[in-house]
Amino acid sequence: MDIIEDSDGVIFSVPCFQGHLPGILKNFTDHMAFMLHRPRYFTKKALVITTTGGVSARSTTKAMAAVLSGWGFNKCYQLPIMALSWNDYRPSAKDLKKTHDIAGKFYADISSGKLHVPGAGVLVPFNLFQAMTAAETDYPTEDNSFWRKYAGMRYAPGIPLTPGKKLLGWLIYQAGRRLLRSTTVTYRK
Ligand SMILES: Cc1cc2nc3c(=O)[nH]c(=O)nc-3n(C[C@H](O)[C@H](O)[C@H](O)COP(=O)(O)O)c2cc1C
Repeated sequence: MDIIEDSDGVIFSVPCFQGHLPGILKNFTDHMAFMLHRPRYFTKKALVITTTGGVSARSTTKAMAAVLSGWGFNKCYQLPIMALSWNDYRPSAKDLKKTHDIAGKFYADISSGKLHVPGAGVLVPFNLFQAMTAAETDYPTEDNSFWRKYAGMRYAPGIPLTPGKKLLGWLIYQAGRRLLRSTTVTYRK
C-alpha cells in the first residue's frame, strides 16, 4: 500500500487462470476489500495487463480494473493480450501496436497530471456509504470515522465533477439518508 501511495501510476500484470484472476491475486484483492468501503487512491492511475493462452483476457482485465476503480483509482487503462501459442509466443504486430498505443496513453496521462471526472459507478459507494455512516449507531465501524472527512463532498477533493455528476452524487446521498432510517450499517454477526 505504501508503494501505491508513493506512485502516480501502477502497472498490474495479471496472467489469466481458468478464466479469472489467479487465486493468489484474488486473495490479495480480497484482503484489501475494505477499500471498497473506504477508497483512497483517488489521484492514482493504473494499467492492467492481462496475458492469456487463448481465452478470457478481456474479462480478466475488466475484473481487475473494476476492483481498482472500487479502491478509488482515477483511471484504469486495460491491455488484454492473447498469446494463442504454447511455449513459443512472439508478440504479433497487432499486439505490439496495441501495447505501444495503450502504454503511450497511460504514460501521457500520468505526465499530464490531469484528473478525470469519475464514472457514475464510483459515485454510488462514495455517496451511499457517506450518508449511511453519518449517524452514530450502537455498532460503530471504521467506516463511520472514515467518511466524516468527506462530509458535504460528492466526491474526493481535487477530482473534477460535472454539474450532472454532482447532482447524481447528491441524489445518491439523499437515497442513502433515506436508507439510513430503516437500515443500520454494522459488521456485527
Ligand atoms: C493454472 C492455469 C490456468 C490457466 N487458465 C487459462 C485460461 O483459462 N485461459 C487461457 O487462455 N489461458 C490460461 N492459462 C495460460 C496463462 O494465461 C498463461 O500461461 C499466462 O497468461 C502467461 O503468463 P506467465 O508467463 O506468467 O505464465 C492458464 C495457465 C495456468 C498455469
